[in-house]
Amino acid sequence: MGKVLLGISASPRKNGNCELMIKEIHAGMGAGWELRLARLSDFGIKPCQACYQCLFDKMRCPQGDGLLALLEEISSADAWIAAAPTYLLSANASLKRFLDRGLQFYAFVDRLWGKPAVAVSVAGIEGMEGSTKLNVDSLAKLAFADLRGSAVFYGALPGETLLSPENRQSALRLAKSLLDPSARMVSEGPACPVCGGDTFRFLPNGEAKCMLCSGSGKYGWKEDHLAIDIRTGDHPLFLTREDVIRHAEWLRGMKQQFLDRRKELKEVVKEYLSVGTVVGRPD
Ligand SMILES: Cc1cc2nc3c(=O)[nH]c(=O)nc-3n(C[C@H](O)[C@H](O)[C@H](O)COP(=O)(O)O)c2cc1C
Repeated sequence: MGKVLLGISASPRKNGNCELMIKEIHAGMGAGWELRLARLSDFGIKPCQACYQCLFDKMRCPQGDGLLALLEEISSADAWIAAAPTYLLSANASLKRFLDRGLQFYAFVDRLWGKPAVAVSVAGIEGMEGSTKLNVDSLAKLAFADLRGSAVFYGALPGETLLSPENRQSALRLAKSLLDPSARMVSEGPACPVCGGDTFRFLPNGEAKCMLCSGSGKYGWKEDHLAIDIRTGDHPLFLTREDVIRHAEWLRGMKQQFLDRRKELKEVVKEYLSVGTVVGRPD
């Protein structure tokens, strides 16, 4: 029986660039792979309500939307692609809304951990992708994938990404990395040596922080290139399966902390409760 590649598109445009790049990657993987396409817009994913029920007892979100069906699709696939368009310098809200529900991923860790994945970011104007690549990489990492590659594809009109030979080459590279268990995220520029991320914040203490795994460390010039020496942080996301379990336990522990400190918190909040006028949409 063939293997299943799941392509998740955050774009509302059917047959737009996200979907086309997913299909191009699928084509590059050769025979033996069935493509299943999940359009996030079909799953009606609702905003996270911050109730934390997905971390306790049955570990299921009570909202009853398409989230669990989508997680079931990823869990039963052999490999997956996350794809999102850039809207106003970040991945669009559909991708973020799915990612916001990510505390539910912990209930699926046994089936999601280490699943091969690649990230596709699409932007209409070269260099105007903002944080989209970080957003899509984060989805794959936070869903415990073995993120083997990530690329930004430029093209504004639906289909335009396919007109670029560079885009087709990048798609083929991503396809090959999905087939190669030793493939690791590589970046043409400076990258985090721990996780392969390539978005950093430069901190006042002279260190740089990787925005993907949250490790930080010194940086400096080595001959003509910037070298960034990242150490693993206290909450690494997620280098090992143990990191995942530890982080889930830490999150669960916050419930007890909340119960223990409820009085103190209530006290500090009290005098702010009646400040300001709440406004909303006129009836
Ligand atoms: C609301 C909106 C905002 C956009 N903002 C950006 C942007 O900030 N930077 C950019 O390069 N492209 C931007 N684009 C262009 C899309 O990223 C581009 O058209 C892309 O190909 C869409 O992918 P799709 O065909 O899969 O929907 C924007 C498009 C829309 C609809």
